Amino acid sequence: MPKLIVVTRDGTENNVEAEAGLSVMENIRDAGFDELLALCGGCCSCATCHVHVAEDWLAKVGPPNEDEEDLLESSDHKRANSRLSCQIDMTEELDGLKVQIAPED
Ligand code: FES
Repeated sequence: MPKLIVVTRDGTENNVEAEAGLSVMENIRDAGFDELLALCGGCCSCATCHVHVAEDWLAKVGPPNEDEEDLLESSDHKRANSRLSCQIDMTEELDGLKVQIAPED
């Protein structure tokens, strides 16, 4: 099982045993973090699953896709390392991935 490090808005780091094959959003939600709203359920239309990816993981995670980028543009908290967590597939290769839940818009 890949490990996922979830940093909550207050800066607390939490280790989560993630499930490969689910999205990062689904893993965060299933682990019980209710500050990640993920209102649209993962269909890339709400941007409430916004996370900031740790700098050393950016290259591996890759850039947002076009629809995702458009949605992220509407966030006041968009940064160069912003991604929508429903658009990142959790894989064994991402073992140790660290993301912080972005502030609420
Ligand atoms: S859950 Fe809505 S965009 Fe990711």
